[in-house]
Amino acid sequence: MPKALNLLQGLSDKRLLQEGHNHLTKKTASGTKRDGASYVSAPTGLLAELTHRCPLQCPYCSNPLELERSNNEMSATEWAETFKQAASIGALQLHLSGGEPTARRDLEDILGYAVEVGLYTNLITSAVLLTKDQLSRLADIGLDHIQISIQDVVEENSDLISGYKGALAKKYAVANWARELGIGLTINAPMHRQNIMNLEKIIDFAVEVDAQRIEIAHIQYYAWAQKNRAALIPTHEIFLETVNIVEAAKQRLIGVLNFDFVIHDHYASRPKKCTGGWGQSIIVVTPSGTALPCHAAQTLPGLKFDNVKDQHLLKIWETSPAFNAYRGLDWMKEPCRSCDRREIDYGGCRCQAYAFSQDPAATDPACALSVDHASFAALAEQEAHAPAPAFVYRRYDGLSKK
Ligand code: SF4
Ligand code: FES
Repeated sequence: MPKALNLLQGLSDKRLLQEGHNHLTKKTASGTKRDGASYVSAPTGLLAELTHRCPLQCPYCSNPLELERSNNEMSATEWAETFKQAASIGALQLHLSGGEPTARRDLEDILGYAVEVGLYTNLITSAVLLTKDQLSRLADIGLDHIQISIQDVVEENSDLISGYKGALAKKYAVANWARELGIGLTINAPMHRQNIMNLEKIIDFAVEVDAQRIEIAHIQYYAWAQKNRAALIPTHEIFLETVNIVEAAKQRLIGVLNFDFVIHDHYASRPKKCTGGWGQSIIVVTPSGTALPCHAAQTLPGLKFDNVKDQHLLKIWETSPAFNAYRGLDWMKEPCRSCDRREIDYGGCRCQAYAFSQDPAATDPACALSVDHASFAALAEQEAHAPAPAFVYRRYDGLSKK
């Protein structure tokens, strides 16, 4: 069966093509009413951070500054209950993430529980720990998709950015095994000033390994990436080159490769609808079971997060103060409050607003209407034109398979 049909069949089998999947309430699946009252629609997906352990040391790591220790990780059966609850409230997709999820010895059991409740499963991995036998077993259990992160396709630079020798060869091998095993494949390439010169080669790599999709995402500078901003941020001019390269590649590769391009916030004029809108689309669960509206939510002040071991996901999703803090429109200040894009981008990213403006309810500084936008853009240009400092690597030395 052609690959696209395979994918559609898989989506259909896993309920992703069914309409009206809102199991939560009889209310519409829209996030907010015109008068400002919030609806609570079903989450579309669950991002399960199975562990924070990771053999790589990426300077833009999106995990929290305080990593969770392996002895606090939820067991496979605790994850099973979480998946069951997620599916029961309408979630369709499960992203098995980390850290490095393949550092979990019980990954096959965990995947099995997800498949059992009908979730579409995506393994987000650096690929360096996977063996062919293990990937084959995961495929047999029912893994639908694998997303492999690429630091660069020039070996020396891949080693330098990841802080891990030989990562590239392993990624190449795992991508080829995924193709042999019929697992859907996405290549994820975080973009910054130290790999941007190889963007065309990174796109060629995705074509060569027969990926269906490539995500080219300029880094967002909060949590650990904020420490390395000056080492990672490109100039505006170089950023614009990436736009041209991606646009040309999109045209050239129609029907071959799908593109997901996340532009650079410092050089944007309007922000992204971060994580599909706060409390509107995804639930992130940390290794110890803390449920978050986005992966960086713990960087925000004044929020208390519930744990899936203590509360049903439905209760957390619908009523927890953290999920409701920036849901809908009521929390907004000007200029967002009266802006005609307020239900399109929901004021952008809360974590970026706080990281730059120290106000979690401020307009995302990526927006040209924000009072902080000019200084946000100027800071980027200033840092990007200065020599890049050395990386502050993200080290987690507790890597042993659990
Ligand atoms: Fe979006 Fe707020 Fe900017 Fe309007 S002012 S475009 S709602 S971030
Ligand atoms: Fe938290 Fe954007 S990462 S809202």
